[in-house]
Amino acid sequence: MRRASVALACLVALGATGLQAAEELPMRRIANMFEPLSTPAHIIMESAYVVLIITFVIFVVVAGLLAYACIKFRAKPGDDGKEPPQIYGSSQIEMAWTVIPILITVVLIIVTARTIGQIQNAPMPENAVEVRVVGHQWWWEIHYPGYGVVTANEIHIPVSRKDAPRPTFLLLQSADVIHSFWVPQLAGKTDLVPNRDNRMWLDPHETGVYFGNCAEYCGTQHANMLLRVIVEEEADFEAWIKQQNTPAVVDASVDQGRHDFSTTSCVNCHNIKGLEVPAIGSGTGVFGPDLTHLMSRQTIGAGVADMNPENLRDWIKDPQNLKPGCLMPDMRLGKPELDSIVEYLSTLK
Ligand code: CUA
Repeated sequence: MRRASVALACLVALGATGLQAAEELPMRRIANMFEPLSTPAHIIMESAYVVLIITFVIFVVVAGLLAYACIKFRAKPGDDGKEPPQIYGSSQIEMAWTVIPILITVVLIIVTARTIGQIQNAPMPENAVEVRVVGHQWWWEIHYPGYGVVTANEIHIPVSRKDAPRPTFLLLQSADVIHSFWVPQLAGKTDLVPNRDNRMWLDPHETGVYFGNCAEYCGTQHANMLLRVIVEEEADFEAWIKQQNTPAVVDASVDQGRHDFSTTSCVNCHNIKGLEVPAIGSGTGVFGPDLTHLMSRQTIGAGVADMNPENLRDWIKDPQNLKPGCLMPDMRLGKPELDSIVEYLSTLK
């Protein structure tokens, strides 16, 4: 009964914080750069068309000349078997095939440089949302420096409409190897390189859950380094930030689980804001995702499974089942600890 009322209170709270809306947003799984819904993605599509048109014209000219030569000078009955007259040292022809490709290359360089400048060196407007994304093998650490929020794998940002622009500026970093941030409908790929800060921005014109993934091979679970960008109305985004800023739920019915979590190796890698850890005081684990509001995320293991207590149990029992090769080991928890820890984590809305 107590649990039912806690669950009900949580549901009410979720509705009040706008998280309910996040579940009703349209799922945008399109991995197609020709259906952009954000200015940087538009700019990249336009540049892609310029490049495609230029290269298509080159293809038609080269293939046309080749076809013409093959047909016109093919072997015919009655040929004398000798080679046709050869032309050497025509400075007009040599100038033409040197200068024209140089001009074409210069045009392509200018188009590319302008696009990179617009996306990676753009000045950040006052009202922009700043997000720091750190790539890890094989998940995304996400910080909102302006709000003090830390989360993982799912980036909530506000919609940015023409009459009320609110872009999001990303700082991209890596904790280990090179990864690449790619949400096709929002922007092109930008690498996350160790010891380097890369920047880009997004301004989604429509709300929805945009699907993305790591686009640079980074090891065994590269294909399961998935990413979601949850684009909400301004008010829902602010409500989400407010909710993420609250310390973790302390539910007396899961005291055992909280104790088990804070006294096993879980706390070496995962932080839960507000959790008391014996001997250390508070959590400091940063090697794995922050779990303060774990259950407010849609997926587990960077998109490998839906977030629910059953999958969470499977994950903790042995992460290597759901995501072979991932860096979270099988902790060999006994059944009582496994049950209590899953119960505890399931309260972290
Ligand atoms: Cu990270 Cu591929």
